[in-house]
Amino acid sequence: VIPLPLQPLRWEGDAGSGRLWLVDQTRLPQELVELECANAVTLHEAIRTLRVRGAPAIGLAAAHGLVLALQPFQHLGLAAFERALASEKAALVALRPTAVNLRWAAELVAAAAQGTTPPARLESMHAAATRLVEDQSARSLAMAEHGLGLLGPGEHILTICNAGPLAAGGLGTALGVVLLAAQRGLKPEVFACETRPLLQGARLTAFELVRAGVPVTLLSDGAAAQLLASGRVTRVLVGADRIARNGDTANKIGTYALALAAKAHAIPFHVVAPLSTVDANTLDGRDILVEQRPAGEVLECLGQRVAAPGAHAINPAFDVTPAALITSIITEHGVTPPESLVHSVPSA
Ligand code: MRU
Repeated sequence: VIPLPLQPLRWEGDAGSGRLWLVDQTRLPQELVELECANAVTLHEAIRTLRVRGAPAIGLAAAHGLVLALQPFQHLGLAAFERALASEKAALVALRPTAVNLRWAAELVAAAAQGTTPPARLESMHAAATRLVEDQSARSLAMAEHGLGLLGPGEHILTICNAGPLAAGGLGTALGVVLLAAQRGLKPEVFACETRPLLQGARLTAFELVRAGVPVTLLSDGAAAQLLASGRVTRVLVGADRIARNGDTANKIGTYALALAAKAHAIPFHVVAPLSTVDANTLDGRDILVEQRPAGEVLECLGQRVAAPGAHAINPAFDVTPAALITSIITEHGVTPPESLVHSVPSA
C-alpha cells in the first residue's frame, strides 16, 4: 500500500450535518491551512477562486458539495428536495465550464439520490461522494502504473500547471506517474513551468515534488520551447480538463505551446487523465468551451498590480491541444493513441 500524499479535501461528520474541509491551495506553499465549507456559498467561492482546483479535485469537491448544498433542504418535502437538487447541481456545474469532471461528478451524485425521504436520499448521495473519492484514488494509481510502463530510469520530465495529488486526489494524474516512478527507484527529475497567471506550477507542483523528494527545476512558461530544443527533456507529461472524443485535449493555458515544441523536437508528449475527463458529448476540440477568467489575474501577480495602468488583458484558463500532437493518452484503462480513445468511452 502506498501512503497517500497531502489530499485536497476531506469530509467530516455524517450526511445530514457534516462539513467539507479543503486545503486552501491559494495559500500554499507559504501556509498549509484548511478551509471549512459549511454551506454552498463558501464552497462556490472556493471553486471560483481556485482554493480547490484541478479538474478531478473539483469533481470531488462538487460531489461532497452537492450533499452540503442539500443539507438545508433535508427536512422539506421530496418535491422541494428534488427541485433544490436540480438547481444546486446546475449552479455547481456552471462554476468552471471546461473541467468536465465537475459535471460528471455532480451528475453521478445526483443520480445516486435514492430513497423515499430526503434524509435517505442525502445519505445515499453522501455514500456516492465518499465512493467517488476512494475510486479516484484507485484510478490515479492505475494511471500511474500504466504511465510507469513508458518510463526509463532517470527521465527528465517537463510538465505544466499542477496535475498532482492536490489537483486530483490520490496520487494525481501526470504527477502521479512521476511520484510512483520515484517510489520505484527510477529517479525521475521534473522541469515544471511556473504556470502564469496563477503560478500553480511554481507554488503547487514544486511543493508536492519537494515534499516527495523529487528534484524539481522551475522555468518561466516562455522558456519551455528553448528547453525542449536543448535536448534536456525526455518526455512531456500533462493533465487534462476535458478530452474530446477524437483526443483533442483542453488543459492549462500554455499546454498547446508545449505540444507544438515537443512535436518539433520529436519528444514524446503524453496526457494523463481519468476516463471521467473524456467527454463523450464533445466531438472535437472546437466543441470545448474554454473558461475565460478575470483580466486581473494577468494584470496582477499574486495580488500585486504589475501591468501598466490602462493595459487590457485576456485570460483564457485553458487551451486545446490537437490530438495530432499527442503521442498517447494514459487513463486508468491503459496507454492509448488519441485516435483509439473513442473505443474506451461510451457513445454520446
Ligand atoms: O485552473 P486549474 O488550476 O484548475 O487548472 C488545472 C489544470 O489545468 C490541470 O492540468 C488539469 O486540471 C489536470 S489536473 C489533474
